[in-house]
Amino acid sequence: MPDSVLPVRTTDGAARSGKASPDARAAIKQRKNGLWANPSARLVSDMKTGWAPPPESVSAPPIGQAAHTARRRAMLSARFPRERLVIPAGTRKKRSNDIAHRFRAATEYAYLTGDQTEGGVLIFEPLQDGGHEQSLYLPGRSSRASGEFWLDGSSGELWTGRRRSLADTSRVLGIACRDVKVLAEALLGTPAPVRVVPGHDMALEVDLADQSATAHNDELAEVLSEMRLVKDDFEITELQSAVDSTIRGFEDVVRSLDRAEATSERYVEGTFFLRARVEGNDIGYNTICAAGANACTLHWSRNDGPVRRGDLLLLDAGVETRNLYTADITRTLPVDGRFTAVQRRVYDAVCAAQEAALAVVRAGARYRDIHEAAQRVLAEHLIAWGIVREDTDTLLALDLQRRWTLHGTGHMLGMDVHDCAGAPTDTYVDGTLEPGMCLTVEPGLYFQPDDLTVPEEYRGIGVRIEDDIVVTADGHRNLSAALPRHADDIEAWMASLRTS
Ligand code: GLY
Ligand code: MN
Ligand code: MN
Repeated sequence: MPDSVLPVRTTDGAARSGKASPDARAAIKQRKNGLWANPSARLVSDMKTGWAPPPESVSAPPIGQAAHTARRRAMLSARFPRERLVIPAGTRKKRSNDIAHRFRAATEYAYLTGDQTEGGVLIFEPLQDGGHEQSLYLPGRSSRASGEFWLDGSSGELWTGRRRSLADTSRVLGIACRDVKVLAEALLGTPAPVRVVPGHDMALEVDLADQSATAHNDELAEVLSEMRLVKDDFEITELQSAVDSTIRGFEDVVRSLDRAEATSERYVEGTFFLRARVEGNDIGYNTICAAGANACTLHWSRNDGPVRRGDLLLLDAGVETRNLYTADITRTLPVDGRFTAVQRRVYDAVCAAQEAALAVVRAGARYRDIHEAAQRVLAEHLIAWGIVREDTDTLLALDLQRRWTLHGTGHMLGMDVHDCAGAPTDTYVDGTLEPGMCLTVEPGLYFQPDDLTVPEEYRGIGVRIEDDIVVTADGHRNLSAALPRHADDIEAWMASLRTS
């Protein structure tokens, strides 16, 4: 990619070499600010002219979730009267040297605005009579007259692409938009306690801390996490779309398994990623492509192991939609299309545990019931296979099955894969399911390759089955039901994809 800075030039135009002069130091400082260094007066003047007029503003329709974002902002406003709230989109994170990771807007910001602009900041300014004035601070069009469109390498439109005018963006999002250049001024003075969602924009947090008694507590983030526990119709449609793209990504992987066998788990990762980038925004989390015993490493994402016939491939992957909702699905597939007897035995046990867990998912059930139902079935299988000698109740009371079941049986799902993680315990982990909650159900069994407590034939087998579920008034709906789960169906599905 091109650097946004020309080589630093001395006054006679020769390329700089040797020790930095004061001018060169100033230029280097400019470079750090993302500016072109020392452009000649003639170039500055030339760059102001000779451009076709900007195209007529195209009236984009309002975003589909505008009514939802407005309702969410109203709820938040009611929760924090007489306080100034600051919700940043965040900034890009450095990857190495001057290269950043791809920007992804903070969930809280996108949830409240429907916008994903890097550096955007949503401000709730408390009003005397209650409520808040809500404003979104965004980069406006960059001026040709001042030269910022080409001189500012970090946000000039020549570098980053055309933007909508603030007036157009305001219509599209349904919220007043102001130029981010006036944000510092708007934040001057301390009319009220200030709360900021922490962790996304350190420079802004430092500025706020310098000038006000900022409450860097987590309560704002906690409330925003709790608000997202129950999804609205727009969000459930987005999650279904994320799931549908993810299913197509799993189909891509099955079709490409021959090539993965000739390369590595990286081929599986790349195949799924193509679907995620073409249909969605990205993957919602690092894809786990774990063949053979790698499946026993829960956060396996190096994905550099071999894919061999006779082994299982545990694929845990999710497409994130362009509105930032992610699926989170796992299937454990026989690389050659057929489970061996012992693989099927383990697979069927996990499938039975998932069935038991799904059976308790309904409004009014305790969230913990899901995990307990799955653990009981897995414990019974471990006992039946002679791996443990305790009775089921003793085993569960001591949690001894966890040596092989390892993790929880699910989590809330939404804009974050582990959504609502900051919600209070009494409304989430110790809470009761409500219609509109979306969660994963994902039991697993993992026999480490060096676990001498299990018969040898089990060692190195890891199986997880994970589906994405929405709680309804009378039960639940499996958003990922179109992806086969049972061993026979998996084999038939793989065979149909590999011959088509
Ligand atoms: N892949 C993350 C999870 O399943 O929770
Ligand atoms: Mn997962
Ligand atoms: Mn999960």
